[in-house]
Parts: sequence; structure tokens; C-alpha cells
Amino acid sequence: MKQDLLTFADWTPTAMQELLELAHTIKQTPAAYASVLAGKSVAAVFEKPSLRTRVSFDIGINKLGGHMVYLDCQAGNLAGREDAKDMAANLACWADAIVARVNSHSTLEQFADAARIPVVNALCDKYHPCQALADYLTLYETFGKVSGLTLAYVGDGNNVTHSLVLTGALLGCHQVVVTPPGHAADPQIIAKAKAIGEATGARISETTQVSDASGADVVYTDTWLSMGDTTPLATIKEKFMPYQVNETLMTTTGAQYVLHCQPAHRDLEISGTLIDGEQSLLMRQAENRMHGQNAILTHLLGA
Ligand code: CP
Ligand code: NVA
Repeated sequence: MKQDLLTFADWTPTAMQELLELAHTIKQTPAAYASVLAGKSVAAVFEKPSLRTRVSFDIGINKLGGHMVYLDCQAGNLAGREDAKDMAANLACWADAIVARVNSHSTLEQFADAARIPVVNALCDKYHPCQALADYLTLYETFGKVSGLTLAYVGDGNNVTHSLVLTGALLGCHQVVVTPPGHAADPQIIAKAKAIGEATGARISETTQVSDASGADVVYTDTWLSMGDTTPLATIKEKFMPYQVNETLMTTTGAQYVLHCQPAHRDLEISGTLIDGEQSLLMRQAENRMHGQNAILTHLLGA
């Protein structure tokens, strides 16, 4: 039976750890995986803009011997020509997998129901699982382990936060989620991560106090305004500025490294000097998008 990757929420800790190690192995020994997708085609449907996800999937699929077709649906609602389920069923007539970046998670669920081929979430309103895998691969390379580390997420509670806490919980990584009042992560997703953490030993906590991030190994942040959020920056800037990830915050928390999924907004959620500094893992994360996604495609489609 085909498997989709809409979120890692229903994965076991063992399966999650194996996928992380597969990504690491593919990165170390790419030649051994050069034909995994030989003769296979992936349809990539994007309702929102992308640099990293689009390019890393396209080049990564090519490195696995496969082929990607990009469908630009940024005009809105899959360009409005036909129902999502009809589009997915048609794509399944030719392609071996669908990679989709969509406005609403429900569109992915419709794709997964209608297509007899795997569907991969390339970001939606709720989750960004491909990003989280790349982020934990980055920590795995940097620290030699993920289990037992503490990641402090500081900023807006969003799709990236959700996938970080779920995936981190599966991998045994403690999480401190620091958000301004009114911008917390989805309580149901946090509850799910806490339930996973009970099995893996990962402690998940939420707070509005930046000082609670003290003792973290790494600090992670993301944009204050996700794609599609039309809130004027001016109306939230004052509230979010105390949550800016900068050199002072790195010193007070004692964290060694900073992560950001990008696109980053210099001197808003993160100081420009921190992006460019020695504590930055941002480009390593970007590089690892491709290796993580190649592991996902190898897992879902590999012979
Ligand atoms: N991090 C990330 O998903 O970047 P893009 O939006 O450029 O794909
Ligand atoms: N939270 C951001 C992530 C971008 C990669 C957004 O959804 O726009």
C-alpha cells in the first residue's frame, strides 16, 4: 500500500530515527543512491512561493536519477481549474509521486485520498515536515546525536514550530517553545508532541518568557509573518521585538548555535550579524533540505 508523508505525527520513534540515518547515509554515499528513482517522475504542485524547497527537490530528484515537473499554482487555489481531488487523480496517471506546497492541510488530505501514489507535504498552513528532517539532520551532524539535546524555538508558533516539536519529540530532543502572548503553537499539536515525548523521554514545554530558553543547546526562529498572513508588520513588530534572536539572546541562553528555516528577515526575527556569524547553521540546514528529502523519496519510492 502506498504511504504518504503529510506529517510525521503518526510515525514511530524507530522509523523516524531510521529516516534520519538514511538521510545521513545518502549524504555520505550519494553514488549508491544515484539510480533509486531511475525512470520515475515527481509532480511538484506549488500554491505558494519557494526557493529552497523547489530547487532542493528538483536537483535532489535529479541526483536520484528521477525527474520533476513543476506546476505553478500560485495564482491561487490550484489555479481554480478543477477540484483538488481530480487534479491529484490525474497526476497519478503519469507521475510516481506528488510533492505539494499548499495553503490548507486539507488540500493535502484530498490529494492523498485521490492519488494512488505517495503525496509529500512541501509545506502547508500546519506543518513543514521536510524542513524539520533537514533541521534534525543538521543537529545530528553537528552534535553527533539528537536525543538529549534541547532546542529552544523563539518566535511565532507556526507550521515550522509544529513539525519541529513533533519530529523532535520522536527523536528524543527536548523542546522549549517561546512565543509572544496570542501567538502560541496549536495546542493539539503540542499535546501530541508531549504524548510522543512520554515514550521517548523528550520534554516539551511552552512559555512566553524568553528567559526560559536558558540552557538550550540551540535556538531556532522563523519569520513573524508566514506566507499568506496579511497582518501588517507594524502591528506586531513591537510585540515581537523582545523575541528577536540576536547576540544578546544567544549569550543569555548560552546556546551554541542558531537555526532558521529561511527565508530570513535580517534584523527582524534574527539579527543579520548572527545569520552571518560562526554560530549560524542556516546554510547547513538549507543544504540538508535536499538530503532529507532524498531520504523521504527513497523511503517512499525506492525499490
Ligand atoms: N525553508 C523553506 O521552505 O524555504 P522556501 O520557502 O524557500 O522553500
Ligand atoms: N512559516 C513560514 C515558513 C517558510 C519556509 C511560512 O509558512 O511562510
